[in-house]
Amino acid sequence: MADYYMGLMSGTSLDGADGVLVDFDLPVPRVMASASVPFPDAFRAELLALNTAGHNELHRAALAANQLAMVYTQVVHALLAQAGHQGVTAGQVRAIGAHGQTVRHRPQEFGDDPLSGGSDAGYTLQLNNPALLAELTGLDVVADFRTADLAAGGQGAPLVPAFHHAVFAQPQRDIAVLNIGGISNLTLLAAHGGAVKGFDCGPGNALMDFWCLQHTGRPYDASGAWAASGTVMPGLLARLLAAPYFTKAPPKSTGRDLFNPAWLTGQLSGAEVSAPQDVQATLTALTAQACARDLIRHAPHTTELLVCGGGAFNDELMRQLAQALPGVRVQPTTACGLPPLQVEATAFAWLARAWHHREPGSLPAVTGARGPRVLGALYVAPTVAHCV
Ligand SMILES: Nc1ncnc2c1ncn2[C@@H]1O[C@H](COP(=O)(O)OP(=O)(O)OP(=O)(O)O)[C@@H](O)[C@H]1O
Ligand SMILES: [Mg+2]
Repeated sequence: MADYYMGLMSGTSLDGADGVLVDFDLPVPRVMASASVPFPDAFRAELLALNTAGHNELHRAALAANQLAMVYTQVVHALLAQAGHQGVTAGQVRAIGAHGQTVRHRPQEFGDDPLSGGSDAGYTLQLNNPALLAELTGLDVVADFRTADLAAGGQGAPLVPAFHHAVFAQPQRDIAVLNIGGISNLTLLAAHGGAVKGFDCGPGNALMDFWCLQHTGRPYDASGAWAASGTVMPGLLARLLAAPYFTKAPPKSTGRDLFNPAWLTGQLSGAEVSAPQDVQATLTALTAQACARDLIRHAPHTTELLVCGGGAFNDELMRQLAQALPGVRVQPTTACGLPPLQVEATAFAWLARAWHHREPGSLPAVTGARGPRVLGALYVAPTVAHCV
């Protein structure tokens, strides 16, 4: 009997929303349909602006959440159209797992802050309007996946390691999964059922995207060709890698709150930039080096690194990763049956399913929470669907 869920993910790259419709009634989840809808430029700019304090931001955030629900709905309709060709109907989809759009991630913002009221939970904020999404699609929506883990003293991130473990772990080999979205995160899967580890490494594509847009007008460095035309600046790379986050012990997670254009601009002040492509090469090296060092430090026996997220399409980044990890086979997750842009979305379909079964979706060893928690909250579809 088929067991269908949808997953919707829009990450820190702010490029758009990725969605999948997955059948979990199989030993390996099967993606029946996948679709991506890019964010219109003005919406992307507004989401980026909402990552920092600004005029009337509560009102603007609420409107952005509504617009996100509209984009998510487009993805859902594209998924249903594709799946329809295989005889799958909307009524068979148990729920949508919708991540929302992170605009703040400050899991450590507590303690001596008088505004915390003494709570030991920091906060993370994903713009979303799951009620509107349920209304527009006629489907149940599970959303707000991170706050239960934060309430239990965890980072609320990364959440994908439990899913990576479920689908990628191999009994005989230490492997790792590296997701390179706006931020990069690593999942370490030890052989013989050893403990799963996971944490955010630091910047993924976000800084590269920013620099590329500013100097070429293009939203990202396709295949890393522009970076490949430049030369890494060793002094700048060393200064960037000296950020305390890189040597901090897990559990740890980060976001645009730390690795953002203001941080980069500060690091660049005083550096002699002769050609902007040299900075692009250096930012690409920063992502590759930070991830490779984390792998070597935390899982030195890893023999295979599976890469997902849009960064897997950056050939220069993949080349630099492989060069920094001799003896490790570095390849996109496609090799294990899930294309790079489907992994995170499938993880949120998987988490929606976990919610449905009231199973914990978090790993306390990864997030630092007091215990595993059932993640998310349900927004029930209207009984008479009017759109689907
Ligand atoms: N062909 C390509 N060449 C180089 N980089 C690419 C290519 N395609 C996508 N990318 C990069 O991938 C990014 C999008 O990746 P992705 O959607 O995985 O990130 P995300 O939205 O931040 O997701 P998450 O937060 O879930 O990891 C783009 O912003 C771009 O930097
Ligand atoms: Mg994306």
